[in-house]
Amino acid sequence: MKFQDAVEEIINRLSIVDVVSEYVTLKRQGSNYVGLCPFHNEKTGSFMVSEGKKIYKCFGCGKGGNAITFLKDYLNISYREAVITLAKKANIEIEDDYSSSKQYKEIEEKKKKLYELHKDVANAYYKVLYSDKGKEGLAYLRNRKLSDATIKKFGLGFAPNEYGYMYNLMKEKGYDDVLLFESKLFRLYNDKPIDAFYNRVMFPLVDIYKHVIGFQSRTLDPNAKEQKYVNSLDSIIFHKKSFLYAMNYAYYSKENYYILCEGNMDAITMHQAGFDNAVASMGTAFNENQMFLLKRKPKKVYLCQDTDDAGVKAIINSNKILKSAGIETYVLDLNPVKDADEFINKYGAEAFRKKSNDPIPTLLFIVSSLKKKYKLEDPYEQEKYINEIVTLLADIDNSFVRDNYLKKVAIQENLDTGRLTNLVNKYLKGNTIKVDKELFKRTSEAENEKNELMHAEKSKIDSSFIYLIFLLKDYRDKIKSEVSTDELINEDYRYIYSLYLEGLDISDIYTKLEELDDAKKNRITEIINQNYNYDEENTEKLIESINLIIRQIKIRRAKAESNDSLDSIYELNNKILEINKKKYI
Ligand code: CTP
Ligand code: MN
Repeated sequence: MKFQDAVEEIINRLSIVDVVSEYVTLKRQGSNYVGLCPFHNEKTGSFMVSEGKKIYKCFGCGKGGNAITFLKDYLNISYREAVITLAKKANIEIEDDYSSSKQYKEIEEKKKKLYELHKDVANAYYKVLYSDKGKEGLAYLRNRKLSDATIKKFGLGFAPNEYGYMYNLMKEKGYDDVLLFESKLFRLYNDKPIDAFYNRVMFPLVDIYKHVIGFQSRTLDPNAKEQKYVNSLDSIIFHKKSFLYAMNYAYYSKENYYILCEGNMDAITMHQAGFDNAVASMGTAFNENQMFLLKRKPKKVYLCQDTDDAGVKAIINSNKILKSAGIETYVLDLNPVKDADEFINKYGAEAFRKKSNDPIPTLLFIVSSLKKKYKLEDPYEQEKYINEIVTLLADIDNSFVRDNYLKKVAIQENLDTGRLTNLVNKYLKGNTIKVDKELFKRTSEAENEKNELMHAEKSKIDSSFIYLIFLLKDYRDKIKSEVSTDELINEDYRYIYSLYLEGLDISDIYTKLEELDDAKKNRITEIINQNYNYDEENTEKLIESINLIIRQIKIRRAKAESNDSLDSIYELNNKILEINKKKYI
């Protein structure tokens, strides 16, 4: 059957409900079927499939089509691939299948040769890096703290400072000019063939099938007039807009999230630090094509773009794209440094791991960035700022989630929870909203909640501390030298700790209880009776745990000593990183 006829036959022969329900759970509703739309994030089903009309349509995001376009969009494959896949399912043989046509075979053949050429070129650049001609390049990469293993893993190389070095090498290998020029790795200069890249560090660009499909190159000279980074031009195997750097590793990572950054150096440094799930958009504003690459294996995405204004915009923009594809996002805020590469080199992999264990919900990050966008001294700007917050909150479909975020935003931005709720509700009803200055008074409710939260966290630190020290009696002196009694949060903890420092054991404390009044006796009993799930036999683990707790106590003190000024925040950040690096016991 001819290709075009097959298209019609597929649509007639196959049940669209069958095709769709392989991927989406559908429920019957009258003569149609309904489910959660796979093309955008929603909590109630607005995705409708009609067997009679042989179409699907989402009333939430507007996407619609037939069985073929569904498969194409859902699996992110070409129209052609979707037709061929469904033809098999429908038992239709496509006679003039394009994939057996001469033109198709020629293109495939050419692609194969281009892959081979790129691989040879990458290998040759790698060899140069470790030769005399590549000394500067190697020194550069070492200076950027990349190990030999990392250089090898990413196949980094060096293009020597000679105009036709690689061209000549590839000619010797037997490649013909047509292919060499088609690769865009070479060009003519005054009628002479030269290399597109010279005197640059080379980063092979590798797709998830492990084909080298292009290069990114970087100048060594920090003051160079030419572009810092120069990439391969698009070719039949390379489309910059549809590429994510390091996806050849991240795609196979076992982690349940991706980390999305801007620079290839950021991605490499993260991989070296043990984050095999990092990818870079290579400067380009993250776009839909790249989103589809991530969606092939849908996971959460931690946005980790640069901390400059462009980076914040990039976070807002990529969040929009990912959210509309139903992908959940968080933010890793790298302040006070510029990017992940700097962060890891300055503060270490452990500090980055901590950050990734506690990512910021994107909405809260975006809201906190608004303060920089608007001049809040100006009432008009204040109004815009509130409008934007209200819109962001109103945009959350699920009312439970919305209320939850609303509270968090109110606490974070010092706004009155009740008034903010009213504004959001008004907005949702389609009414215009009016901002009054009462909104800017944080309610005592929010204040209390914040205090309570902080208190709960603080006392958890203290009670774990008390619990652990009695399991580590041999370390009394060391513990004493790190934590003084007055650093504990209240009198009860301080009392117990002082007895511990005197050399008492839990059993001695029980006898001591008799000296106390009833109220205090109850409180102290409660504290020493609490139970945590520590493995009491494993001293090493216990020491690790007490180190964690001591760090938190020290961080708590550092926080209390700092104020809201930028300098102070910066200093605090550094202090915290210092504290986190050390082992105390
Ligand atoms: N980029 C590019 N062309 C440029 C500048 C940047 O393609 N002229 C891309 C590169 O992929 C680069 C990314 O954008 O990695 C981010 O650029 P930038 O933030 O300027 O560089 P860094 O990642 O900080 O690079 P480095 O640390 O090497 O200076
Ligand atoms: Mn950088």
